[in-house]
Amino acid sequence: MAVPPEIQARMDELRREIRRHEYLYYVRDDPEISDYEFDQLMRELQQLEAHHPAAVTSDSPTRRVGGQPADGFETHAHHVPMLSLDNAYSLAEVREFDARLRRLLPATDFTYAVELKFDGLSMSLMYRDGLLERAVTRGDGSRGEVVTANIRTVRSIPLRLEARSTNTAAEQPAGAAATDSLVVRGEILMPLDSFAALNRQRKETGEAPFANPRNAAAGTVRTLDPRIVASRKLTFYAYSLLTGDRMPFPTHAEGLRWLSQHGFKISPFFRVCRDIAAIEAFIHEVAERRDALPVEIDGVVIKINETALQRRAGATSKSPRWALAYKYPARQATTRVRDIVVQVGRTGALTPVAELEAVSLSGSTIQRATLHNEDEVRRLDVRVGDWVLIEKGGDVIPKVVKVLHQRRDEELPVFEMPDACPVCGGRIYRPEGEAVSRCVSADCPARLKGSIRHFAQRRAMDIEGLGEALVSQLVDQGMVRHLPDIYRLAEEELAALERMGEKSARNLLAEIESSKSRPLHRLVFGLGIRYVGERTARLLAEHFASMAAVMAADREELLAVSEIGEVIADSVTVFFQEPSNREMIHQLAAAGLNMTAAATAPAAATTDDPFRDKTFVLTGTLRGLTREEAKALIESRGGRVTSAVSGKTDYVVAGADPGSKLDKARQLGVAVLDEDAFRRLAGGI
Ligand code: IVH
Repeated sequence: MAVPPEIQARMDELRREIRRHEYLYYVRDDPEISDYEFDQLMRELQQLEAHHPAAVTSDSPTRRVGGQPADGFETHAHHVPMLSLDNAYSLAEVREFDARLRRLLPATDFTYAVELKFDGLSMSLMYRDGLLERAVTRGDGSRGEVVTANIRTVRSIPLRLEARSTNTAAEQPAGAAATDSLVVRGEILMPLDSFAALNRQRKETGEAPFANPRNAAAGTVRTLDPRIVASRKLTFYAYSLLTGDRMPFPTHAEGLRWLSQHGFKISPFFRVCRDIAAIEAFIHEVAERRDALPVEIDGVVIKINETALQRRAGATSKSPRWALAYKYPARQATTRVRDIVVQVGRTGALTPVAELEAVSLSGSTIQRATLHNEDEVRRLDVRVGDWVLIEKGGDVIPKVVKVLHQRRDEELPVFEMPDACPVCGGRIYRPEGEAVSRCVSADCPARLKGSIRHFAQRRAMDIEGLGEALVSQLVDQGMVRHLPDIYRLAEEELAALERMGEKSARNLLAEIESSKSRPLHRLVFGLGIRYVGERTARLLAEHFASMAAVMAADREELLAVSEIGEVIADSVTVFFQEPSNREMIHQLAAAGLNMTAAATAPAAATTDDPFRDKTFVLTGTLRGLTREEAKALIESRGGRVTSAVSGKTDYVVAGADPGSKLDKARQLGVAVLDEDAFRRLAGGI
């Protein structure tokens, strides 16, 4: 039967694509598509070939097991080929597999051994006389690369086989010569914590991070320097044992037990199942606990447990008939970037987000993925119109792992971060050395709730009752659109709010009223200027003595204030250059807030004050002073309070239940004051 030309063309295209992806995956360790998507291509080709057998070519990717060995390592033939597994993506396919086996093995009573499907790279370990002789990658399934020196650095692989538990005498593999020569197969993986640490380190040194733990493990196994491998903390889980070409135990379960008793890690979840219902339960249980595992898995493997029946079921050239991989919904997918938008978070931080063509991932439809920040956008070089690989990790928000630049077939404009806030039009500022750009308008609607909370907190304007829930209500109901609106609230509208009432409304208004006379430094701190904490606010207020003077100060004038460096000076100037912030301050002044330091100048610190220019660290609880009060006392006398003990600390004031700061002080020989000594130093308060 002639093959229709469009079918022929599709088959050619699929073969070309599959070969390319095999090369990228096996040789380059740099795949462009997810395993799931690869399997879909392979399946489509298999189906077309099944319908048009005449069009099958001997070099079709369906006719062989895997990829080709890379240069740089010797190769070695696998005595027993390392086959692949058939994949199932639904329980219906698991049922078909079961039905097929029941037809193939009629009237036999068999069980299934079900274990985790590890998402790493398979490895064959050859032991002779109990010693690790050779480690070989899967390669193309019949020949792999010899990576013994690298694999010897993997701590979870025993170099010598020893029974690690007693009473195993009765469980030696069948056959007298069996232990002379033995093959252990399993999966090499990079644990998730090692992966995260490795990528952090690579980012610091400017190297490209690995896209996922499997690529990192594959890349590591094939580096030519075993010392690098040793530093990368790989691990190994064993899943099969062969002596000669046989499984030496009557069941897979016993084989695994032997492996475990001889020092190998095996699947931490394992169950012998009699029927589909039990397999289904196992699949669900593992899915729920998957995120707590130290390594990545992508499914479970279902195997006939009885080895004699495995042999009877046999294998095709590609995979055994007695085993099946059930794969969880993919956590990676490829899709296209429709747009890149910039979101403004509660702190004013700008986050670029890719809007995507809808794609299904881990069972949900994904239309957006975070691009984190401007540097990440540059690193990825992502542009509107690009194809991207996205991934759902532990977090809820998927991220763009990489851009498939080869698929960019036209010039696309480079993405630029906006120079004004997309929410309020305010100025965007990115301090030097920071990855995040922020909107500097304290009044920006995206920041408003956070700004009010900061403004009202005890250490700032101290408006009791203006807590998180109330701030949300005020903003959500449109009663406060700008920060100064809190000074325009009316009693009736407040009283009408949920959980309020007249009395609370009156109390709140009284609090708001009394906040108008707070000292200037509290107001400066309350504005939420980046890098302006309580101490800096106090320095600014003392030095300039009025809000108008702080606002008018240029960079040089700010730098002239002791302890104010460039980062703070820049941040302050940028803040006060932003028109919406100036307008906000005018409105606060019009509402009657104190804008000068006159009434609030701290008790003048004399030059011989023992607190002057001394650095204090507070730890533990004082009897008669809150921490805030102690801090205010120290600062009013010209001292400063920092949070960590260092060589620059003059005194550690230790109250009851002091923490590790006290130990640190003793270690560094810093003077420690108890409460009484502190009071004496303060002149007997
Ligand atoms: S048994 C003949 N068990 O999955 C059966 N394989 O697509 C061969 N894999 O290359 C494999 N976890 O690297 C088996 N518990 C497990 C596995 C497992 C992961 C990998 C293995 C193989 C691939 C098959």
